[in-house]
Amino acid sequence: MTTFARIAGTGSYLPEKVLTNKDLETMVDTSDQWIRERTGIVKRHIAVDGQTTCDLAEQAARRAIEAAGKKPEDIDLIVLATTTPDKIFPSTACLLQQRLDIHGCPAFDVQAVCTGFVYALGVAEKFVRTGAARCALVVGAETFSRVIDWTDRATCVLFGDGAGAVVIEASDEPGILSTHLHADGAYEKLLHVPGGVSRGFDVDGEDGDPRYTQMKGNEVFKMAVNTLGRIVDETLKANDMKKSEVDWLVPHQANIRIINATARKLSMSMDKVVVTVDQHGNTSAASVPLALDTAVRDGRIQRGEVLLLEAFGGGFTWGSVLLKY
Ligand code: UT7
Repeated sequence: MTTFARIAGTGSYLPEKVLTNKDLETMVDTSDQWIRERTGIVKRHIAVDGQTTCDLAEQAARRAIEAAGKKPEDIDLIVLATTTPDKIFPSTACLLQQRLDIHGCPAFDVQAVCTGFVYALGVAEKFVRTGAARCALVVGAETFSRVIDWTDRATCVLFGDGAGAVVIEASDEPGILSTHLHADGAYEKLLHVPGGVSRGFDVDGEDGDPRYTQMKGNEVFKMAVNTLGRIVDETLKANDMKKSEVDWLVPHQANIRIINATARKLSMSMDKVVVTVDQHGNTSAASVPLALDTAVRDGRIQRGEVLLLEAFGGGFTWGSVLLKY
């Protein structure tokens, strides 16, 4: 019998500090109206000084483990997606493992920026399906505010911090039905933080401040809409499924206009789309599990329903997960 990986529990966490559009009006030349109309964002949460990605990940992970009815010692794999790790090394997954007092199981980070959680779930699912793990903790966590230039209105209004997590376990019943992961590194310069450990942070190049996110927003927007439309088709075709068989779209929360376009592609009414971008902006790898946990906890998503998770981000990377919850 095929072993599936099914979601046993979800959790999420947003740091307490809130930054509203009104707050941003006092920091850069922007307006609440522009941000709402162009992005759908109303507020975002920001980690305070000293609050790290692992701090956020720990809260989300504990909630997911509890919701799954598990104990930390039941976890035999940790995959954590982040672009903003606490340290160069050890990985944030290993730091989280220490916090949870888990010893010995594999723990590693995945870096696919906004598609990170979808990648991490795709990887962890393969471990569970092949029997290499039975109960995996999959986390998307970011302190993206740390790689934002807070004087650049083109990017600072868009992003926020947060974490989301799921526990997946081996099951005879589906479960995750398929995962679809893609990347095309040719688009490096459209969305990137130019600096890095190996390249250095002092480069005086043409790419902009090496510490902060540089984005050609308009071009990223168009690519995201087209690419997410294609991945919806790919995912349905691989499962021989009709649009109408998807109960919920759980999209990456970058911009309400991108989410609307994907919903239109699925002929889905917006009341079947989980939208949290208004509450926390783009939290990169955390955004899909944050949205998922929100709709599970408020009772919208029910056991047995079919969910389509999708994301697009720097790399470019993009991907989807189709699952029966
Ligand atoms: O997770 C994946 C990564 N990121 C994304 O998916 C983001 C993709 N891109 C987007 O969401 C959108 O492109 C943005 C929200 C970033 C921008 O929206 P847009 O409709 O593409 O606006 P635009 O860049 O074409 O700019 C329109 C105008 C410009 O002024 P002019 O040239 O028309 O006079 C900008 O200078 O809006 C101006 N603008 C702003 N105005 C007020 C840009 N940022 C702001 C701002 N406040 N924060």
